[in-house]
Amino acid sequence: MKEHLEHKVFQLISEIADDSEQECYVIGGYVRDIFLKRPSKDIDVVVVGSGIEMAEKLANKLEKKAVLSIFKNFGTAQVKTKDLEIEFVGARRESYQRDSRKPIVEDGTLEDDQNRRDFTINALALCLNKERFGELIDPFGGLNDLKNKVIRTPLNPDITFSDDPLRMMRGIRFASQLGFFLETNTFEAIARNKERIGIISKERINDELNKIIMSPKPSTGFILLDKSGLLELIFPELVALKGIETKEGIGHKDNFYHTLLVLDNVSRQTDNLWLRWSALLHDIGKPRSKRYDKKLGWTFHNHDFVGMKMIHEIFRKMKLPMNEKMKYVQKMVLLHMRPIILSEEEVTDSAVRRLLFDAGNDIEDLMMLCEADITSKNPEKVKRYKNNFKIVRNKLQEIEEKDRIRNFQPPVKGEEIMQTFNLPASSIVGEIKMKIKDAILDGVIPNEYEAAREYMMKVAAELGLTPPEQR
Ligand code: CTP
Repeated sequence: MKEHLEHKVFQLISEIADDSEQECYVIGGYVRDIFLKRPSKDIDVVVVGSGIEMAEKLANKLEKKAVLSIFKNFGTAQVKTKDLEIEFVGARRESYQRDSRKPIVEDGTLEDDQNRRDFTINALALCLNKERFGELIDPFGGLNDLKNKVIRTPLNPDITFSDDPLRMMRGIRFASQLGFFLETNTFEAIARNKERIGIISKERINDELNKIIMSPKPSTGFILLDKSGLLELIFPELVALKGIETKEGIGHKDNFYHTLLVLDNVSRQTDNLWLRWSALLHDIGKPRSKRYDKKLGWTFHNHDFVGMKMIHEIFRKMKLPMNEKMKYVQKMVLLHMRPIILSEEEVTDSAVRRLLFDAGNDIEDLMMLCEADITSKNPEKVKRYKNNFKIVRNKLQEIEEKDRIRNFQPPVKGEEIMQTFNLPASSIVGEIKMKIKDAILDGVIPNEYEAAREYMMKVAAELGLTPPEQR
């Protein structure tokens, strides 16, 4: 293992540990990631003694090359260098009194500390003291679990999860991120303890949710969240997509599993977190817009609009960022049917211009979402859609080159309309502006100033307006 501890900083810690006669170990994610061959910059060090003292001594040795932060209340300290963040903590033991939920935290041994960790794969430790430098301490078979791709808690999972209920989500996140199997006993404990997630802050939950969404195949995580019952508690709108209703022998597709397929499809192509969120939410309006029509069967009319409207409330409730990220997701959800509708009809220049105008710079993302949304099992249908999509894409490119609609601003501004006709800011100004915009998008006039100015005069005359100098 020594070759993985070659960084100079490990030598320094080793010397300090020996000088102060304290046992010292690298533990947790850093060690796990060595075996997974994932480079990591966050190093956790456990000291059987004082973590803060050790951090101070290291910072002294590194002088100006390091920044030291001490968190006295937690008994931890951090040393930050150009390329590493090293967290020091004293080994601790927690014991629970029968009449209190609050644990008594005392100094402990390495073993006590390992007992308190979330999963066997995160409880591996490497000794840093010179005599035993690089020695692996693995009391729970974490290395085996890494080899067999298993997530399991070191202790009885009811105890591990009760210590910190966020670990239930972490377990599912690691399973999804690493493609590991969540051991049955551990999974059942999540289902049993799910209500305890209620004491965890939304921010911590979102960190894990985002990591699940960013995993290579996010459906793995969402299926586990759903099966354990956690999803119903943290994201009920997604669970509402589940199920197939049948009337007069006609059923509709299960929108939950369809959504997960779309999310997986998008995730194969992009690391854009918010595009992945858009995939997750694209059909969120379906349960509320579902109708059964005797002639048409199941319909979800306006689910794009209804879904877009739901996003504000979902983001607010879940404490997701209510800024341009949310606006982007709203836009994607609102527009997600447009390219597909286009591809079903004759692709007119005017419809393509409007799509370009509404999507702006996000047009490629929208097309990606839309293609990912084709999950039909009918190969003929898929072929037809994909073919039509090619036509839409070509047309988009052709029109963009010709008309530069993507970042289109109508060439005649409201100011100019007001000045020309000596008008105050009013709805009539807006009306003229919109007519100019529509004329350009519909190809009635080119996207140029002169033509737009001329068109403005014509529209104004129709509305009974004349410039003051002609009155
Ligand atoms: N840990 C824990 N319980 C938690 C969080 C963390 O037991 N709720 C322990 C684990 O041993 C973990 C270590 O603290 O390996 C470091 O935690 P953290 O840096 O949050 O996560 P990593 O395991 O390093 O993984 P990632 O960076 O992917 O979150």
